[in-house]
Amino acid sequence: MEHPKDFAKGLSIGIIMDGNGRWAKQRGLPRTAGHKKGAAVFQDIANYCEELGVSSVTFYAFSTENWKRPLEEVGAIMKLFAQYLIEGFDYKNRNIRIKFLGDRTALDPKLQKLMNELEEDSAAKTGMTLNIAVNYGGRPEIVRAARQLAQQVAEGTLKPEDITEEMMSDHMYTAGQKDPDFILRPSGEKRLSNFMLWQAAYAELVEMDVLWPDFTRDDLDAAITEFNKRSRRFGGI
Ligand code: FPP
Repeated sequence: MEHPKDFAKGLSIGIIMDGNGRWAKQRGLPRTAGHKKGAAVFQDIANYCEELGVSSVTFYAFSTENWKRPLEEVGAIMKLFAQYLIEGFDYKNRNIRIKFLGDRTALDPKLQKLMNELEEDSAAKTGMTLNIAVNYGGRPEIVRAARQLAQQVAEGTLKPEDITEEMMSDHMYTAGQKDPDFILRPSGEKRLSNFMLWQAAYAELVEMDVLWPDFTRDDLDAAITEFNKRSRRFGGI
């Protein structure tokens, strides 16, 4: 697809990877096959975002609600995630800083170790920030921020009336990052599903009919083009 150079430069994007189960079902495959293809798409789209000059991209990989799924499916998602952390992240050749959003303490300690190492190893990178939300929920994130600030109030180092939106932002997992310009949800659903509730206050929502395992670089181009059209309308007279 033809698009102007720099059409995605500096953007902050949130992506809800949805439709893996339906994709597999359509093909008579187990749901885990959909997640496997979805993980490969995740990897390619993350790299493409960096190539486009996107400033940060956040992928919703596993929500706090996803534990309700069958044990086998949860295990398969965690395995794919671990596999990506071990082999998939080409951080030596890419200028990507990686961050994990969510409560990692509930995850396998081996996985936690990999996550911590990857964050540390990539911390000095100056290019795109790649956020991966795992055991993440927007409401728990806001509760966590409230507790941290309440703790400071209890210790007498902060007055309730001095709490600002900026301070709340600084206590989110995305501290220091720009809020998403748009949230992309493939698979035709029109819900935020507890994703980046605080950060999405002014985000445009872009939904697409394609299922995540079928999502391509052209689809991302189309989503960004749609976002650019909308923001041009808002900026116009
Ligand atoms: C939503 O589709 C997808 C998930 C809950 C899991 C996403 C996980 C991956 C893509 C793999 C692991 C992640 C990384 C970062 C390597 P769904 O299962 O809800 O689809 P459905 O709505 O069609 O059932």
